[in-house]
Amino acid sequence: MCTNIGNRKRNFGLLIVWLFATLVYAQQNVNYDESKVPAYVLPKILQCENGETVKSVEQWEKQRRPELIELFASHVYGRTPDAKIDVTYELLTEDPHAMDGKATSKQVKFTFSNGKKKIEALLLMYIPNKPTDKVPVFVGYNFKGNHSTTSDTTVLYSPVFQLMKETNHADWERGTQASRWSYDKIIDRGYAIATMCYHDIFPDKPELRDHSIVSLFPGYDPEAIAPDEWQAIGAWAWGSSRIVDFLETQEKIDCNKIAIMGHSRQGKATLWAGAQDKRFQIVISNDSGCGGAALFRRRFGETIATINKAFPHWFCENFRQYNNREESLPIDQHQLIALIAPRKVYVASAEKDLWADPRGEFLSAYYAGPAYRLYGLSTIESNEMPKLHEPIMEDIGYHIRAGVHDVTEYDWECYLDFADKHFKN
Ligand code: GCU
Repeated sequence: MCTNIGNRKRNFGLLIVWLFATLVYAQQNVNYDESKVPAYVLPKILQCENGETVKSVEQWEKQRRPELIELFASHVYGRTPDAKIDVTYELLTEDPHAMDGKATSKQVKFTFSNGKKKIEALLLMYIPNKPTDKVPVFVGYNFKGNHSTTSDTTVLYSPVFQLMKETNHADWERGTQASRWSYDKIIDRGYAIATMCYHDIFPDKPELRDHSIVSLFPGYDPEAIAPDEWQAIGAWAWGSSRIVDFLETQEKIDCNKIAIMGHSRQGKATLWAGAQDKRFQIVISNDSGCGGAALFRRRFGETIATINKAFPHWFCENFRQYNNREESLPIDQHQLIALIAPRKVYVASAEKDLWADPRGEFLSAYYAGPAYRLYGLSTIESNEMPKLHEPIMEDIGYHIRAGVHDVTEYDWECYLDFADKHFKN
């Protein structure tokens, strides 16, 4: 017992030292000076590989769009396998009187299996009891377990915490992330919410790849990773599509009105999910930064080299060739946003979140315009950033708010306004 506590203290100490060293390393040579952003030329959204310029929606959808998906898959996020993995759903709890009677909660165990090995994930849903007809839904991963998103003591946490933490009792996280999940507001405005812990799909440590859903797919090799093989971000994107598969079985959910919201590393996965899966009608990136909405070529804040060093298990191996060689990457992130057209996309930044490059996030939403204009949709008109708390709500949306890297009540208000505009009017 005493030795256990001693070990935990020592490991905690080591963790702090490691975190500090990572932070110091990451902050070295970081550019936060706009005047030092290198001159760059962005690859063209509408220029096909054979040099032709896209003139129609048809040409975009048949020729250019698949070319871009292929470039992102082979150079950045890795390929999403075509193979299907069996999944079963088990309803663990259902409470029609949740949230003081205004919602129904459901907890569902997903079991993914390839016949030899199984991986479990827990979905938590709150569905408004009013209106009684179908409702739109927000899908999004949480970082610290479903139980961290609410103080509701009936919410379960998944076994993945035995892998992620030194303890099998993660209850101390209960409610600690509730400020990032404005459940009351979401339910009051007539939306359902479906969340899962991202560790359930790929526990966020390189050494835990063997416990991720990636390990269920044909050709998986625990000892080797192919240059264009998917890693954690690809797996998280895949997992959010599996949540949609489940939502399609739910009578109360309007599956023509599915929004996905992801924060930070999950903002990256969200954009990639939105690019690949057309069932996401609204795609929201919250402070997604490098590998998310921010333009790589600006090299402002986090860069390809720093992200690949700190998180070697997020992107495909091919992506490492672009460490300090941003200009040779065949794509940039405005093209990822363009892949979401004609569905609606919203990018959000925080003023103090310089690591994520708010201006780079804004500019890629701005430069995604040509794909949206092909469909006759409205885009961000000026390359001047809007002021704080002055959201742009066209078919492409954007806001920057005061404060740091986080998801706040203000962010959710904007997302709900954006969803109302596109889903309810
Ligand atoms: C780190 C990382 C970012 C990421 C963030 C997060 O700061 O460098 O790329 O977005 O973690 O996911 O919280």
